Amino acid sequence: MVLSLLLLLLLVCSTRANQFLGTVMTYYPGNTNADGSVTVQLLYKLNFETCTMLTWECLSGNCGTESVVMRKGYESNGEWCQMEGISTRNVPSNAPFQLWLNGGDWIDNITNGIVNWRAVTLVELRNRSDIGKANTSPQTTILPDVRVPSNCQRNFNLLAFDPDGDTIRCRYGNTSLSECNPCTPPSVLSISPSCSLSFSPTSDEGPYAVQVVMEDFPNQNISLTQTNGTKTFLTPNDAISKIPVQFVLWVDPPVPSCTEGLYLPNFLPPTPNNRAQFFTIVNRAIVINIKAEAIISTISELLYSGPSTLIQNSTGAGQFSLTWTPSQAEEGGSFPICFVVKANYNLNIYNSDLRCVIVTVGNNPTTTTTLPTTGSSGMYVVGLSVKVSSSSQQSKDEILYYLQQARYYLSYYGLPNVTINIVSYVQH
Ligand SMILES: *[C@@H]1O[C@H](CO)[C@@H](O)[C@H](O)[C@H]1NC(C)=O
Ligand SMILES: *[C@@H]1O[C@H](CO)[C@@H](O)[C@H](O)[C@H]1NC(C)=O
Ligand SMILES: *[C@@H]1O[C@H](CO)[C@@H](O)[C@H](O)[C@H]1NC(C)=O
Ligand SMILES: *[C@@H]1O[C@H](CO)[C@@H](O)[C@H](O)[C@H]1NC(C)=O
Ligand SMILES: *[C@@H]1O[C@H](CO)[C@@H](O)[C@H](O)[C@H]1NC(C)=O
Ligand SMILES: *[C@@H]1O[C@H](CO)[C@@H](O)[C@H](O)[C@H]1NC(C)=O
Ligand SMILES: *[C@@H]1O[C@H](CO)[C@@H](O)[C@H](O)[C@H]1NC(C)=O
Repeated sequence: MVLSLLLLLLLVCSTRANQFLGTVMTYYPGNTNADGSVTVQLLYKLNFETCTMLTWECLSGNCGTESVVMRKGYESNGEWCQMEGISTRNVPSNAPFQLWLNGGDWIDNITNGIVNWRAVTLVELRNRSDIGKANTSPQTTILPDVRVPSNCQRNFNLLAFDPDGDTIRCRYGNTSLSECNPCTPPSVLSISPSCSLSFSPTSDEGPYAVQVVMEDFPNQNISLTQTNGTKTFLTPNDAISKIPVQFVLWVDPPVPSCTEGLYLPNFLPPTPNNRAQFFTIVNRAIVINIKAEAIISTISELLYSGPSTLIQNSTGAGQFSLTWTPSQAEEGGSFPICFVVKANYNLNIYNSDLRCVIVTVGNNPTTTTTLPTTGSSGMYVVGLSVKVSSSSQQSKDEILYYLQQARYYLSYYGLPNVTINIVSYVQH
């Protein structure tokens, strides 16, 4: 009896093991060693119904050797688990190579007919003539699933940030390039090159696999120089690297009203705008405050995707904060964070809009400053008159919050530790 129960459990576990909900991969080039070998750091997210670890395999080129650390990211109550993989690869030269995930199954009954998962990353590390170093991929992330009621129009603007300042374009994967297996796009979602996905009302409910390829293009003609001296030329129409952005779009039953703030949660200040950029430095925590309301449904959860060291706190009804303290290893990088607020009404789940921000970790200001930091004789008080323009009315606390953000930005350029306060303010 006990034995058969155990077997049944094992069976259930194994049939549920392959419940893929997409992936994202990005990379940062590392050092070039004296022997011409190169290191690269690849950061990836793996989304499954239950926490699952996988490593990427070599598809083409010489992918060298790798060491991987896997960490658990956010796990939503019974819906999904996101794992973060940090892979450091050492490759013998800076020649391009491709990695892929290929094999198991997405969740059951995907409306656009996708069963097998496949995702491809093209890692380009040759020396770029315009920036005098190797390329960094676009930086982005996504939630494992994104929900929309079938009767509401909605746009999902993917985060698309390029640390090299390249132009980023998105497209659906191409089956003949083996970018997915197959790449049948979701009929209900149209994609624009600027990485905006537009959903129009439909009667075809259910889960759709969304398999996007994000690429960076140079802004001018450039050359790529390989370790052995060979040069390759690229024009602004040639992609440098490519990364996959894959997730599930759930088209849910219709909602009585598409107006945000009733059933669908609505973001309120000081929630940052989509694609907002934050600055901080190593060991200095950045706090992202998120506030949402829904009059009819009940807000239950903040769902997010970001560095696995991100800490969530709920600070009251519909109020959340995400706190992240970058470590030395993250210095100089830009890290994406995406979030939605989830609400429940009866047995229905309603998601807010998707919002994503990017946090840039600046280099620590050098400590050669001669300004004394203690004692009244070393303190300076500086008065500034500042004009803040905004499309909606902001409270004093919100304005202070934006000024604090400006301070983070300035500390990136070397502003020493200052305390900011509002002495008086006038609203027009
Ligand atoms: C998938 O569809 C089949 C056939 O319609 C059904 O039996 C099964 O329960 C569905 N699975 C899920 C997870 O909805
Ligand atoms: C890349 O090229 C620049 C000159 O364009 C050079 O200064 C730099 O050392 C090169 N980097 C590597 C890793 O070869
Ligand atoms: C897919 O890639 C092939 C080979 O490069 C190309 O000929 C074709 O036009 C592409 N299809 C689409 C829809 O872009
Ligand atoms: C860029 O390269 C293309 C193809 O090699 C060439 O036709 C074009 O004139 C170049 N553009 C500039 C601005 O150099
Ligand atoms: C450099 O390497 C590439 C491929 O790895 C090869 O095609 C090319 O011929 C090599 N160039 C030289 C000058 O050896
Ligand atoms: C979470 O928020 C509450 C209420 O503001 C606060 O008391 C608590 O210290 C916070 N916890 C963390 C870990 O920041
Ligand atoms: C900046 O100053 C405040 C107040 O003096 C202090 O609490 C904080 O630790 C300082 N931060 C840094 C990074 O030095």
